[in-house]
Amino acid sequence: SPRYLKDYQVPDYKISTVDLTIELDDNKTIVTNVMNVIKSGEHQRALVLDGEHMQLKSVLINQTQIDSSQYQLSDSTLSITNLPEQFTLTITTEINPVANTALEGLYKSADVYCTQCEAEGFRRITYFLDRPDVMAVYTTKIIADKTSFPFLLANGNKVEQGNLANNLHYVTWHDPFPKPCYLFALVAGNFDLLSDTFTTTSGREVKLELFVDKGNLSRGEHAMVSLKKSMLWDEQQFNLEYDLDIYMIVAVDFFNMGAMENKGLNVFNSKFVLADDLSATDDDFFNVEAVIAHEYFHNWTGNRVTCRDWFQLSLKEGLTVFRDQQFSADMHSSTVTRIKNVKIVRAQQFAEDAGPMAHPIRPEKVMEMNNFYTLTVYEKGSEVIRMMHTILGDDAFKAGIELYFDRHDGQAVTCDDFVAAMSDASKTDLSQFKLWYSQSGTPELIVSDDYNSATNTYQLTIEQSYPQTHDKQEKQNLHIPINFELITNDNEPNQGGLLHSKEKTQTWTFDNVCSKPLPALLGNFSAPVKLNYHYNDQDLNTLMVDASDEFNRWDAGQKLFAGYIKQLVNNPELDLPLQIASALEQVLACNADNAFKAEQLILPSFDEMAAAIVEVNPGSLVRAITVLKGFIAEQLQVQFLQTYQSLCTSEFAKDGQAIGNRALKNVCLDYLSLLDGANALVLNQFTDANNMTDQLAAIKVAALNDLACFEDVMTEFATQWQGNTLVMDKWFTINALHNNENVVQRITGLLEHPEFSIDNPNRARALIGAFAFYNSEYFHNKDASGYEFLFEQLAKLNTINPQVASRLITPLIQFKSFDNNHQQLMKGQLQKLTKLESLSRDLIEKLDAALK
Ligand code: ARG
Ligand code: ZN
Repeated sequence: SPRYLKDYQVPDYKISTVDLTIELDDNKTIVTNVMNVIKSGEHQRALVLDGEHMQLKSVLINQTQIDSSQYQLSDSTLSITNLPEQFTLTITTEINPVANTALEGLYKSADVYCTQCEAEGFRRITYFLDRPDVMAVYTTKIIADKTSFPFLLANGNKVEQGNLANNLHYVTWHDPFPKPCYLFALVAGNFDLLSDTFTTTSGREVKLELFVDKGNLSRGEHAMVSLKKSMLWDEQQFNLEYDLDIYMIVAVDFFNMGAMENKGLNVFNSKFVLADDLSATDDDFFNVEAVIAHEYFHNWTGNRVTCRDWFQLSLKEGLTVFRDQQFSADMHSSTVTRIKNVKIVRAQQFAEDAGPMAHPIRPEKVMEMNNFYTLTVYEKGSEVIRMMHTILGDDAFKAGIELYFDRHDGQAVTCDDFVAAMSDASKTDLSQFKLWYSQSGTPELIVSDDYNSATNTYQLTIEQSYPQTHDKQEKQNLHIPINFELITNDNEPNQGGLLHSKEKTQTWTFDNVCSKPLPALLGNFSAPVKLNYHYNDQDLNTLMVDASDEFNRWDAGQKLFAGYIKQLVNNPELDLPLQIASALEQVLACNADNAFKAEQLILPSFDEMAAAIVEVNPGSLVRAITVLKGFIAEQLQVQFLQTYQSLCTSEFAKDGQAIGNRALKNVCLDYLSLLDGANALVLNQFTDANNMTDQLAAIKVAALNDLACFEDVMTEFATQWQGNTLVMDKWFTINALHNNENVVQRITGLLEHPEFSIDNPNRARALIGAFAFYNSEYFHNKDASGYEFLFEQLAKLNTINPQVASRLITPLIQFKSFDNNHQQLMKGQLQKLTKLESLSRDLIEKLDAALK
C-alpha cells in the first residue's frame, strides 16, 4: 500500500546514538545494535522499528533481555510498548549477505562485503527507525577474517583496531556527524589502495583513499584527480569545505546504481571509478569525473543537510545534479556539456513524464521508494534548480545557498525550506515558481508573433499548455523563465534577455525593432519545456548561424532534422532538400570547436523523436532516421571523408581538443558507414585504434550497419578484452545493438556466455537493457520476439534483483508512444508479468500504473 506526502508525521522517538558491532560471515552475520532512544514529547505510543529479511536474535532494554511477550514482530516491523522516556535498546539480528542478490542492505559479492542503505536498506541490517529525519551518531565495530578481509571500513574516523583469536581482526570507526541511517556504510575486502591528500582552504589536511580490486591501481588515477578537482571547485564556487579527516571511495563490481554518498565512505559502481586510456572511452572519463563530483558534492547537499522524508528526494538529488552539471561545464566545453544534459531530459525525462509513472519532482505518493530515483527527480529536479539560478542570477543564488546552510546545517529538511532560503536571500517571490515541485508533465509553450513595420513594434505571445498526464493531475500555470533573443538582419544590436511567463497567455511588446525579427527562444534550455513555434527551414538555417546562444544554434539544427524525420515517418519517399546538407556543410566548414560540431551533426535519437510524435510505428521511425542519415551521408560524402581523414592521427591525447577531434571523427565515421567502402574504413579504424573511443566506435557502426566485418571484429575484441569486466560490458552491449533479424537469438545465446551473469546489474543492463532501450528496430519487432525476450528476463530478475528489474521494465511500460498494434503487444507482456508468483513491490507499482 502506498505512502503519501500529506501523511508525514514527526517520529515518536529519537535515536541519538547507534553502536554497531558487526561480525561478518557469509551466511550468518551477527549485528549487535546498541541505541540510545528518547521519546519525543509525552505519549504512550509503541516504538515501531522497521526490519526485513532478518532473524531477530534478542532484544534488551537497559541491558535486560525482554521476551517475545513484550514485543510484536511482523514481516516488516518490531513494535515495543511500555517504554520509559529514555533507554538503551540493544537488538541483535542475524543476516545472510551471500543470499542477498537484491544488493540492498549488507551483501557479499565478488569476495567483498558492502552495503547499500539508501533508500530503505538499513532495515535489512538491523531493526531501526529507517527514515531520514532520525539522525544519530554512529560507532561501528567490524570483525572479520584478517587474511580475506584486511580492510574493514565504515563511516567517519578510525578509532581503534586490533587482533582477535582465530585469525580475526576488528576495526572501530566513529562518525561524529549525526546522520540518517541511509548514509551508513560498511565495506570489507582485500583491495589495492590509492592514497593522496587534499589541503582545504582553511588548511586542514584530508586523507583521500581509493580502494580498487587488486591489480587496478593505475585505473584509479583519474578518479583521484577528479576528486581533488571536485573538492577545490566546491570551495571556490560555494565556499564548502570537506569536514572529516578522511574521505574514502570503494569501487565494487556489483552495484544497483551509479554510486552512493555514504558519509566519508562512498561506495561506487566500478564503472564510475576505473578508467585508463586503453580501456575507457572519452565518455567514460567524463562520467567518472561527473559521478565522483556528484557524490562528493552530496557531502553538503545531502549529508550535512538531508531530507526530512523521501518525498523530498529532489532536495538533495536535483540540487546535487545541478552542482555536478555546473562542475562538468566548468571542466569542459560548457555548451557541449549542456547539450548532453538536455538530450537526457528530452529523450528520457520527457518520456517518463508522458508515461504511466509520471510524477512531480516531489512525488506525493510512493509505494516502493527505489522506484523514485528517477530522471524526473534527478534531471528535471536539476532543471528546476537551474531555473532558480537563471531567475535569481549567480550571486543571489549563491547567497541563497549560503542562507540554506546557515539555517539548516545538521537538519533534515524539505524542498520548501530550500526555496524559502532562495526566496529570502534574494528577496524574490518564488511562490508561483514552487509549483514546479508539485506539478508533473512537460509544459508546452505555444508561441506566436506579430511584427508591425509601420510602428517598428514586435509582439511575442506565449501560451502555456499542459497535456494530460497519467496521474490525471490538474495543471496550473507555472513561472517559466525564457531566455530570448530577437535576431534581426539590420545593424542594430539584437534585443534579448529573460522573459517570465506566468500566465496562461502573455504578450510582450518590443519597441524600436527596425526589421522583422526571428525569435531565438529558450537559450541554454532555460526551462524543461517543449517549444512550439512555426520556424521554416530558412529560419532554422538563420538560427543555426546567427543565434548568439550556442545552445540555440545547436537546437535549430535539431529542429530542422526533427521536422524532416517527422515527415519521413509518413512518407519515406519524400524528396529531401539539398538545403539540409548545405547547412551541415557550413557546420563542417566553420571554425567552431570540434566537440560542438560533432553535436551539431548528430541527428535526434529515436527516443527523442518518439517523445515528439504521437502513436508512432517504431519501424517507420527507425527507417525515417536512417533515410535522413543516408541522405546527408551521400550529399556530404566528400566532406565527411576529408574531415575524417584529417582527424586520423596516430598520437593519442586526452585534452579537450583531442577529445573533440575524436568525437567529430567518429560522427563522420558514423555517416560514412552507410556508404560504399564502409567495411574497409571500419575495419581499418578497428585495427589501428589505440584507444577505446575509436575501437568502440568501430565495432558499434559495424553492428548498427551489420557490416561484413562485424563477426570478426567482435571476436577479436572479445579475445583482446576477455576478463576485463567493464570492457566486456561494452562488448555485450554492442551484441545487443546488432541490427540483424537474428539479434534475439544472438543475445539469448549470450545469456549462457561464460562471462555473462544476470546477477551482476552492470551485465544485465549491458545486454538486456541495451537491447530493450536501444535496439529500437528489433526490440519492437512486430513478431513480439523482443518484448517476449524482455519478459523472460524480467521474470528472472524479479526474484534476483527487483531494483534492476524495475529499471529494465521502462521500455515496456512506455507503450503509449507507439501505435496501437505495438501497444497491445507490449501490454500483453505486462499482463503476463502481473501473473508471476511473488511479484516484487517494485514491479507491482509500475505494472499497476501502466495497466490501470
Ligand atoms: N544517492 C545516490 C546518488 O544519487 C543514489 C542511490 C540510489 N539508491 C537506490 N536504492 N535507488 O548518488
Ligand atoms: Zn545523488
